Amino acid sequence: MIETLCFMAEDLNIISGAKAEQYESLLPQIKGLLEGEPDLIANLGNVVAALKEQFGWLWVGFYLVKPTFAEATAARETELVLAPFQGPVACTRIRKGKGVCGTSWEIAETIVVPDVEKFPGHIACSSLSRSEIVIPIIRNNEVVAVLDADSERLNHFDEIDRYYLQKIVELIIF
Ligand code: SME
Repeated sequence: MIETLCFMAEDLNIISGAKAEQYESLLPQIKGLLEGEPDLIANLGNVVAALKEQFGWLWVGFYLVKPTFAEATAARETELVLAPFQGPVACTRIRKGKGVCGTSWEIAETIVVPDVEKFPGHIACSSLSRSEIVIPIIRNNEVVAVLDADSERLNHFDEIDRYYLQKIVELIIF
């Protein structure tokens, strides 16, 4: 018999309250969503869906480090390629060191941007985005992906987001 492993939107318990409380409620639920599922795309899809449902950000999604597309470039070069996300359509490829995502990849550190207009080289995928946070995902000392979240509000992301989003990405097996 084929068993269907399916969660319904109603299975996610969305709470209001302080930001840390919202993350504390979401964290074990995301853990549950990921448990026993080895497929990366399925897992990334559910993580961004859960974050979007709980926080309602303008955009939240992953970029994966993948070989460059251009035939002319050396095969060993890599770039960020758009992966599961929620929100408006976004740029598909970002080079190392470019924008907030490419910079976070390059320095392998989380970047909190209170005002995107003040971040030199910020890549605007939506004119509605005002602030942003990017978390690099590191496995075996290498950045394998980044998690990016955008908000329509200035100064939306802080140390609480940094702390919990880093915890959330640690749960994902790459
Ligand atoms: N703003 C990002 C680009 C990705 S979109 O926001 C989805 C950046 O500067 O890297």
